[in-house]
Amino acid sequence: MRIRVLGSAAGGGFPQWNCGCPNCRGARAGTLRAAPRTQESVAVAADGDDWILLNASPEIRQQIESFEGLHPRAPRHSPISAIVLTNGDLDHVLGLLSVRESHPLVLYATERVRQGFTEDNVLYRTLQRFPEQVTWRPLKLGREEALTSGDGRPSGLSVEAVPVPGKAPIHLEHRAGGRLAPDPEDNIGLRIRETATGRRLAYFPAAGGVTPAVREALADADCVFFDGTFWSSDELPAQGLGAKRAVDMAHLPVGGADGSLAALRGLRAARRVYIHVNNTNPLLRDDSAERKETEAAGWVVAWDGMEIAL
Ligand code: MLT
Ligand code: MN
Ligand code: ZN
Repeated sequence: MRIRVLGSAAGGGFPQWNCGCPNCRGARAGTLRAAPRTQESVAVAADGDDWILLNASPEIRQQIESFEGLHPRAPRHSPISAIVLTNGDLDHVLGLLSVRESHPLVLYATERVRQGFTEDNVLYRTLQRFPEQVTWRPLKLGREEALTSGDGRPSGLSVEAVPVPGKAPIHLEHRAGGRLAPDPEDNIGLRIRETATGRRLAYFPAAGGVTPAVREALADADCVFFDGTFWSSDELPAQGLGAKRAVDMAHLPVGGADGSLAALRGLRAARRVYIHVNNTNPLLRDDSAERKETEAAGWVVAWDGMEIAL
């Protein structure tokens, strides 16, 4: 299996347009050892030329152009055979509205995420210009699905959706008078298996906690991508950037006694990668103490353009 990181930052990217935090200022000024990053999205492929996108970031156009494997090979063509969504947050779905040039799309998502994106969304009409423009393939929790293109061509990969603590996207929080009950289909992790080799990627870019189901889903993976949004729970308020703590946003911090680094100690995966890294996170700095601690525990921090061959 080939894995190509198209974007590795959390929503807003790095640096973020309206952010003057020390990381964002230092990245702009070139005074920090910290590479700019676009918003999280990853492409995966078995041995063929077709790619599956995991999430559709607002920077999808630039991300496609950045990687030759995703370039068209005919006057009207895309090697992207399907897109899998892990939740309905705008940093994961806005890109769908940027691939509207009358190209058939195959989208894998839970029914909940499909509804959240399509219902009461007039902009979605731009993807409904002809009946077969979008084919939704529902992901059911705990059921493995073959990933196939619009014409049913197998990709050589399958996916299983795993419920992960998370929350509805911010733009849907008002539904049911702000009392929209959380649903296990709001946020999922992906277990992607290559049919020919049995190799497994566990892709969990947003996780509010490590439940027994999450732990089990990661246990046999050869490669794990995990939520690297925040290093600490009060990272935003501590920098004067609002009141939201990591827990309010359903992101388990990486550091600390209760963080994911400690909770996921002992994973067998040879490759362990933090992704969806927020611009405030000290992990973005190549020479930070937090980065050293993370790398000493066998994890790496994703960067745009990173490739893994499993
Ligand atoms: C998140 O990861 O929590 C969301 O992307 C936040 C947001 O939508 O701004
Ligand atoms: Mn996000
Ligand atoms: Zn910032």
